[in-house]
Amino acid sequence: LSDGPLKGKRIVITSGPTQEPIDPVRYISNRSSGAQGTAIARALVALGAEVVFVSGPADVPPPEGVQLVRIETARQMLDAVQAALPADAAVFAAAVADWRVAQEATSKMKKEKGALPTLSFAENPDILATISQMTEGRPPLVVGFAAETDDVIANATAKRLRKGCDWIVANDVSVGTGTFGGADNTVHIISDRGVEDWPKMGKAQVAERLADRIAGALRG
Ligand code: C5P
Repeated sequence: LSDGPLKGKRIVITSGPTQEPIDPVRYISNRSSGAQGTAIARALVALGAEVVFVSGPADVPPPEGVQLVRIETARQMLDAVQAALPADAAVFAAAVADWRVAQEATSKMKKEKGALPTLSFAENPDILATISQMTEGRPPLVVGFAAETDDVIANATAKRLRKGCDWIVANDVSVGTGTFGGADNTVHIISDRGVEDWPKMGKAQVAERLADRIAGALRG
């Protein structure tokens, strides 16, 4: 571990999508690449943090120098985060599936002529809200993300209060911004001190700046 400002600090990060099984061969997921979460983990490692990286099946390879915990479902992600505590900070960059299939089939569903399957859903745990609202052992700094297409600041501000986290990193993912799968990101940091608008920059730069800000906050 490097001898940086986060030496001795333990930080849990979630990243990537979750996969929610339908049956042994099929699943429901989303298009998260894991790029931003991976970049944040890398930046925190570079500042000397001990990083537990809880990742769904991402497109990008995991960063080096982390304690890697691979999971598939949202429930596994929550278990892994809870098992990783206590921590000095938690950063929830994962795109967690909001719903899972209520009853996962234990054998492959068969295609039958003229019969379409019906899926019913159950709500997944909200990992960010669960950890933010812990009454004992809550990480002193909890950071969530908000990908919004409209009223970015208003929606992200409401999300921060609803979930109970300390900061929300809000980004505009509306069509035309190229944020999804792209190299750049335009973010706003929402905290109890208001809104900070960051200029458009590479995801690695967003990660480095966020890591610096986390180091500043943990220094007190
Ligand atoms: O509610 P929404 O999905 O927009 O919130 C996004 C934030 O909440 C992200 O930080 C995401 O990682 C986190 N989240 C979570 N568990 C969920 C849903 C979202 O940790 N089930």
